[in-house]
Amino acid sequence: MSFRLTDEQLMIQAMVRDFAREVLHPSAMERDRSKEFPRENLGKMAELGLMGMMVPPEYGGAGADTVSYVLALQEVAYACAATAVVMSVHNSIVCETIDRFGNEDQKQAHLKPLAEGRVIGAFAMTEPQAGSDPVSQSTVAERDGDHYIINGTKRFITSGKNAGVTIITAKTDRTKRHKGISAFIVRKGTPGFSVGRTEEKMGLCASDTTDLIFDDCRIPLEDLLGQEGDGFKIAMTSLDSGRIGIAAQSVGVAQAALDAAVSYAKEREQFGQPISKFQGLRWMLADMATEIEAARQLMFFAAGKKDRGESYTMEASMAKLFASEMVNRVTAKGLQIHGGYGYTKEYPVERLYRDARVFTIYEGTSEIQRVVIANHLLGDRYVGTLR
Ligand code: CAA
Repeated sequence: MSFRLTDEQLMIQAMVRDFAREVLHPSAMERDRSKEFPRENLGKMAELGLMGMMVPPEYGGAGADTVSYVLALQEVAYACAATAVVMSVHNSIVCETIDRFGNEDQKQAHLKPLAEGRVIGAFAMTEPQAGSDPVSQSTVAERDGDHYIINGTKRFITSGKNAGVTIITAKTDRTKRHKGISAFIVRKGTPGFSVGRTEEKMGLCASDTTDLIFDDCRIPLEDLLGQEGDGFKIAMTSLDSGRIGIAAQSVGVAQAALDAAVSYAKEREQFGQPISKFQGLRWMLADMATEIEAARQLMFFAAGKKDRGESYTMEASMAKLFASEMVNRVTAKGLQIHGGYGYTKEYPVERLYRDARVFTIYEGTSEIQRVVIANHLLGDRYVGTLR
């Protein structure tokens, strides 16, 4: 099926491209060094509607579709990948999850501040001993009158330190597998809820990744998201959407690496001519561009299916798998084309290479994406067909 963007989608893309290249891009390298959370820029992004892109207008959001969202996200990632991951988790796994599973009171309380960028959102499921296998998580939420008491530690939480609202999962029934997991909305400052260590990371340095510690943290029953036992399905549904976002981040970063490599190859002269004249490099550039385009189409395909209300779990995993592996190949080639300069901090490609590395890991490793895809192929509902 061919894909054509609407005038509105093209307008959003152009608006975000201008903003990202004027505001985010010039300071991205410095942010990588300082590791400073991009709070001010996130505020500006909120003014443009980028912090509640798919939140319905009645809750203060832009009410955009997923295709518009991925267009925006890839532009932000092109300019600053650390800012893009904050935007991605905030929009796809927090705002969308509260919009889809929250009751009216929860939507009223949380969506507006999130969409206005006054509050940043985080999502906490991973634990020190439960990464790819979240069913084995050990954080517990025990009912005590009209409260739950939460105990446990979450790990690798994007925006953990800077988030005002965090969706967490915890076991409400330890005798059950995934059906014993529930989801909760926890506010910053709740007694018993604290931020633990912040990771020193290879890339995405301006986005904080922290432990979250729950030590007899009491939250009211009203902060349960959905019903008791719904937590695993809520998390999996949210990750389906999040994975399209990782594909968009991958495409944005890969395009940035390609563009940097093209301009360097035209400028740099060796053996008396621009290195872009050498077939070995031309073929590298051609492969990079082709792979990016393939990833972009998978991203649009998954986003389009989501927008049409069709099942898109497998397609989201395919887009995430291919795009995240693609960007690792493309940034490595982009760095190679820059030769020794690519390895220095004078040029942006070393940052892109570092930033991209986690894309095959977070929101489900490549291996988990293959599990999801294979489960669908071998499931009862799969109908193989040529399109
Ligand atoms: N949508 C809705 N329901 C789903 C689902 C989906 N995509 N995937 C599974 N389920 C349901 C199943 O239908 C099943 O329900 P029933 O019992 O009612 O049939 C239930 O969930 C359990 O399914 P499985 O038995 O398949 O579950 P599993 O334990 O085998 O795990 C998995 C499946 C795909 C491997 C899953 O564990 C997984 O995705 N693991 C990776 C976790 C992950 O991505 N972590 C990333 C953390 S978040 C992060 O990185 C954010 C950040 O800060 C950047």
